[in-house]
Amino acid sequence: MEVINKSKILIIGVTSYIGRYLVEASLSMGHPTFALVRETTMANHPDKARYIQDLKESGVTILFGDLYDHESLVKAIKQVDVVFSLMGHHPDKQLGDQIKIVSAIREAGNIKRYFPSEYGFDVDKVQILEPAKSTLAIKARVREEIRMAGIPFTFISSNLCSTYFLSRLGQVESMGIPDEKVIIVGNGNTKGIYEHGKYMCLCFSFCVLCFSIPYFLAVIINSEKDIAIYAIRAVDDPRTLNKVLYVRPASNHCTLNEIVSFWEKKTGKSLDRIYVSEEEVLKKIQSSLEPLPFFYAIAHACFIKGETCNFKIDESVGVEATELYPDHKYTSVYEILNQFI
Ligand SMILES: NC(=O)c1ccc[n+]([C@@H]2O[C@H](COP(=O)([O-])OP(=O)(O)OC[C@H]3O[C@@H](n4cnc5c(N)ncnc54)[C@H](OP(=O)(O)O)[C@@H]3O)[C@@H](O)[C@H]2O)c1
Repeated sequence: MEVINKSKILIIGVTSYIGRYLVEASLSMGHPTFALVRETTMANHPDKARYIQDLKESGVTILFGDLYDHESLVKAIKQVDVVFSLMGHHPDKQLGDQIKIVSAIREAGNIKRYFPSEYGFDVDKVQILEPAKSTLAIKARVREEIRMAGIPFTFISSNLCSTYFLSRLGQVESMGIPDEKVIIVGNGNTKGIYEHGKYMCLCFSFCVLCFSIPYFLAVIINSEKDIAIYAIRAVDDPRTLNKVLYVRPASNHCTLNEIVSFWEKKTGKSLDRIYVSEEEVLKKIQSSLEPLPFFYAIAHACFIKGETCNFKIDESVGVEATELYPDHKYTSVYEILNQFI
């Protein structure tokens, strides 16, 4: 019987929001898992130090190092097959400085796959306003550096993360689930994808009508756990080599109005829906205090322009996670909402 060795995975940024899910998925799928951790973090953040100790006890090999210590990066990278970077977008500096990981991977010369810090829009395609535009342009530049360096890659385009967006029913300024009124960016019915032939009318094959029906979707929101599982499954999958892995589960394309209706159905309580026009959103991007302009720009792109799903996947550059891994039972938006009740 052929024994398939699971790739050794290094996570740089294991204490990050997304990194915590990735390390869990990596361990659960039996990958030898390594984490590059800063000594200063261990010394100055007791909660993170405890978490890292827990990881160690779960079998993660902890390696000390820093993005700004080239030798430590090369040394860590030489011990593994695959690297994940989770540099955050606050501040943007570390996102751009991921180039340092690219240099270290080139020098180490052994890496089979690199997953840079992404987990959002397809940054080669997205049309988005400032100040988010500059941040996403950094991610696009990092992609370009990786391609130019000839490093094997997978870029994860997983759209919106559920914990942040669903725990507030998509509201930008208000934290938590609203009690009486919900503030909806746009008209709550964003028009999104238009995939000819993908969706059937009642013919149950594909007819002229199927190919002419515009199929309206809105925003794509995914559970972090699923995003991490799909990312780790991609590690040893040749189908994801040098591709964008889009996470677009069918049940997770929802409009904001649908999400609010799901919530009302679960709780049996209606919410007053207050709609914020595009004009108002543009004013808020201009005049709100930091960090709201960034989040309004994201909301504008997602909830008004449908940027998470207003394009068809180009098969020469991307693959879709639920199509590659249909055996994984992902959590739908409707189910995810249960955790906030
Ligand atoms: N689509 C969405 O809804 C969504 C939501 C959130 C994030 N994201 C994306 O996910 C990616 C990761 O973001 P995040 O929010 O998870 O990140 P984060 O929470 O800001 O964490 C950043 C990580 O980088 C590490 N780090 C910082 N400086 C370092 C250095 N000099 N050397 C080594 N490690 C260093 C930090 O470790 P320490 O503990 O040592 O500081 C931490 O683990 C980003 O690309 C972001 O845009 C997407």
